[in-house]
Amino acid sequence: MRVCVVGSGGREHALAHVLSRSCDVVVTPGNPGIPGSVGAPAGEIEADLYVIGPEAPLVGGLADELRAAGRLVFGPGADGALLEGSKAWMKELLVAAGVPTARHGSFDEPEAAIRYLGAMGDMFVVKTDGLAAGKGVLVTSDRAEAADAVRAYMSGEAFGDAGRRVVIEEGLGGPELSVLAVCDGRRAVPLAPAQDFKRIGEGGIGPNTGGMGAYSPVPVADSQVVDEVMDRAVLPTLAELRRRGIDYRGVLYAGLMLTPQGLRVLEYNVRFGDPEAQVVLPRLRSDLADLLAGAAGGSLAQAPAYGDDAAVTVVCACEGYPGAPRTGDLIGGIEAANAEEQVTVFCAGVASVAGGGNGAGSTAQRGQSLSTAGGRVLAVTGQGPDLATARRRAYAGVAHIDWPGRYVRFDVAAEAAASVSGKDTE
Ligand code: AMP
Ligand code: GLY
Repeated sequence: MRVCVVGSGGREHALAHVLSRSCDVVVTPGNPGIPGSVGAPAGEIEADLYVIGPEAPLVGGLADELRAAGRLVFGPGADGALLEGSKAWMKELLVAAGVPTARHGSFDEPEAAIRYLGAMGDMFVVKTDGLAAGKGVLVTSDRAEAADAVRAYMSGEAFGDAGRRVVIEEGLGGPELSVLAVCDGRRAVPLAPAQDFKRIGEGGIGPNTGGMGAYSPVPVADSQVVDEVMDRAVLPTLAELRRRGIDYRGVLYAGLMLTPQGLRVLEYNVRFGDPEAQVVLPRLRSDLADLLAGAAGGSLAQAPAYGDDAAVTVVCACEGYPGAPRTGDLIGGIEAANAEEQVTVFCAGVASVAGGGNGAGSTAQRGQSLSTAGGRVLAVTGQGPDLATARRRAYAGVAHIDWPGRYVRFDVAAEAAASVSGKDTE
């Protein structure tokens, strides 16, 4: 089977890497670190299956365009992608479907939003309605800061049009969990659960990012928890989408919090998580292409197979991220990291260094010829029989990666690995 993956980040590198176990894979536009990257747009590429990675083309209707041209596509149409494109719409749908979520209000007008902050407890959460690359969420115990964020979001100053409408919600507490379900319009099967590290700073401090690391499996999420997520969140959501005439074929990614009062959906994404994909996909034992083609065709056959192994991924970012990152520095050590036992480097914000090689897709193998070109640059995944081993391997890979100002969190999966192995792994 020939598969076309759309996107250019670490998630798309992971998709291409795992799909290439059984398929011929092209990636558009990809990046110089992803083998098989091509410049042509998806519509000009002949493939048996199209897998759309990022939310923006899904919200923009790329899946609809490709389907209209008779192609087999994994990824929701613009109608279903609104789950991620508008948090207010998503919240309304969750309430209609009876899915547990945080108490909230949606606002088009700052005074009303600021008044509503008074109805919250001692934690305030302010979210942009529209897409903001994972950065449009403020969680704070400072009401004045929340009110300032409302003004900055709604004036367009902070996130442009994405912030002109905001969702305010109560702050919840508890372990977070990402459950990515593969849907064929009627049925859904969960991939292995993962947990990601959203804040920039160790210990979960500082601003939200697209994700600084992830691990899978998640000790607090046994199969009972996953079943509950499917029964109380994913399946009712899919049924409500269907009731509204939306044939949802793609990933429904539930971002959850396990609160003392039970599970709550914080958000839905309409795609694989990044960096969750970099841990959940490499662990897959069954064929990814079969799974995605089955879902795209409306005939999911069987649940994906996983073993007892674990994976941990650590994102290497540029100095300044999630603000304006410093870019243009030469990246060293990719080859050495990939040579570590069960370590794979997935490339995201990278560019070819001028004169440093021109072979599409093979630049990463030559190690020294990539430079930093975005906030999140690489995700280094380690795999092993347990979380502690996978974690050690991931950081052994990270130790080779080098450029001025390279930033990593060193606490990714530390607590989870220690909880399983019974000892502190830091
Ligand atoms: P979201 O993009 O909605 O997943 O939000 C990004 C991150 O903000 C989440 O992963 C949580 O860490 C945090 N967050 C979102 N909503 C809440 C909430 N209601 N209470 C506490 N933290 C939240
Ligand atoms: N890791 C969070 C996301 O993909 O949205």
